[in-house]
Amino acid sequence: MTTILRTIAEVRAWRDQVPSGERVALVPTMGALHAGHMSLMELARRRAGVTIASIFVNPLQFGPSEDLSKYPRPVEHDIALLKAAGIDAVFLPPVDELYPDDASTFVVEESVSLPLCGAVRPGHFRGVATVVLKLFNIVTPDLAVFGQKDAQQCVVIERMVRDLNLRIDIVRGLIVREPDGLALSSRNIYLGEADRRAAPAIFASLEAARRAFEGGERNADALAAIGRAILAAEPRIKLQYWEIRHPESLELIETIGPAGALFAVAAHLGATRLIDNYLARTA
Ligand code: PAF
Repeated sequence: MTTILRTIAEVRAWRDQVPSGERVALVPTMGALHAGHMSLMELARRRAGVTIASIFVNPLQFGPSEDLSKYPRPVEHDIALLKAAGIDAVFLPPVDELYPDDASTFVVEESVSLPLCGAVRPGHFRGVATVVLKLFNIVTPDLAVFGQKDAQQCVVIERMVRDLNLRIDIVRGLIVREPDGLALSSRNIYLGEADRRAAPAIFASLEAARRAFEGGERNADALAAIGRAILAAEPRIKLQYWEIRHPESLELIETIGPAGALFAVAAHLGATRLIDNYLARTA
């Protein structure tokens, strides 16, 4: 049975009746669930005896010109998917349950949140870190599962957990893709037909760089040039960034060393912004 919880008090009462010794896994989402999210739910179920998902379209992480009002909210469908997946509880708070009108305390990470998406979406990771810390405090999970597709988000949350001494394991779930390579995203539904046909070039650019990396190329500029060249050949794609960075510090690197590297891409197709990445490992 899946319990629907709408208030913080309801979540706390639910959490209090979980037998001590049972591990609780939280999967935070903004809903519009797809197979990528469902793979995170499966991972949560494998890692913990008790699972809770949250569905909350977090206004704090959207910029003023972003898609908050039109963000898809198929709540009944999402609940049905979570029930079918055997998730024990779903937290569906209204906005004023999480943000009182005069809320004035926020979480700001000051290093790994600055480049990549942080540079083009000011305030985004402040919104993400704040809501995730709030969810952690409300649910008090033993572990929380996030998708590797939002690689920088994972790094920001891992940094927050380390810096603020939170006793929560962060687990990353693999990227799930369409057969043509497009990473699953709730925003893919915005793509028109021609943009949808062009979108797999993002994955193709990462694949081309991956092949060169696996062939022994370690120079970050050379690898990024390979990736950018693939996207330059697709006129519908307006590249925002294609960068190679240290996987934990997110600093730019010249040569890929033993820590490996994050290859990260963001691009617009029409009004739709897509991100994707590849985690290069040397071992
Ligand atoms: O990845 C998302 O869906 C959101 O950024 C998250 C982690 C649920 C916070 O709102």
